[in-house]
Amino acid sequence: MEVIFVTSNEGKYREARAIGEKYGIEVGWIQLEYLEPQGSDLEEIARKSAEMLSKEMSSQFFIEDSGLFIEALKGFPGPYSSYVFKTIGNEGIIKLMDGVEDRGAYFMAVIAYWDGKEVKTFTGRVDGKISEEIRGEHGFGYDPIFEFEGKTFAEMGEEKNEYSHRRRALEKFFEWLSGVCNK
Ligand code: IMP
Repeated sequence: MEVIFVTSNEGKYREARAIGEKYGIEVGWIQLEYLEPQGSDLEEIARKSAEMLSKEMSSQFFIEDSGLFIEALKGFPGPYSSYVFKTIGNEGIIKLMDGVEDRGAYFMAVIAYWDGKEVKTFTGRVDGKISEEIRGEHGFGYDPIFEFEGKTFAEMGEEKNEYSHRRRALEKFFEWLSGVCNK
């Protein structure tokens, strides 16, 4: 079966396509930037974005929304991750965390799937910590400051995709989709 991923981010699409193959699911791509409503709950934002987008789509599709949540900052930047990255960036986060002992943080991903009638969501999370400094060359976004088992995601390259929040959400989604289609 085929399912369409609507995203402007090619890296996200490639990751989804590779994971889909394991489940015999072909992931198609519509490269599109869509409107995201503001809000404090990532799952709610993804759900509303998919509902709004469904008005323009003629078939089933899914989108993905993710964010970085820092424990000592009460979950900031969370749903504002994209804006915070564009404004203060990784340097800004490292400054905010200067002298902070509790460096716990997690990435969260939400997949919102429009089945033609309604939206179903799937979440994935990976726990790690904010590094003391920017490290690594690979990846994108907050990868150079997110440390998982001693290495930042940006130091890992492809290995990151084994642990990522996105992978965890995609696997839940594809498992569910395979079950529904084989009924
Ligand atoms: P969005 O889901 O594309 O809106 O991402 C929100 C923000 O989180 C963006 O600034 C991304 O760069 C960042 N982000 C999302 N996923 C990852 C990741 O896997 N690694 C690093 N940054 C990420």
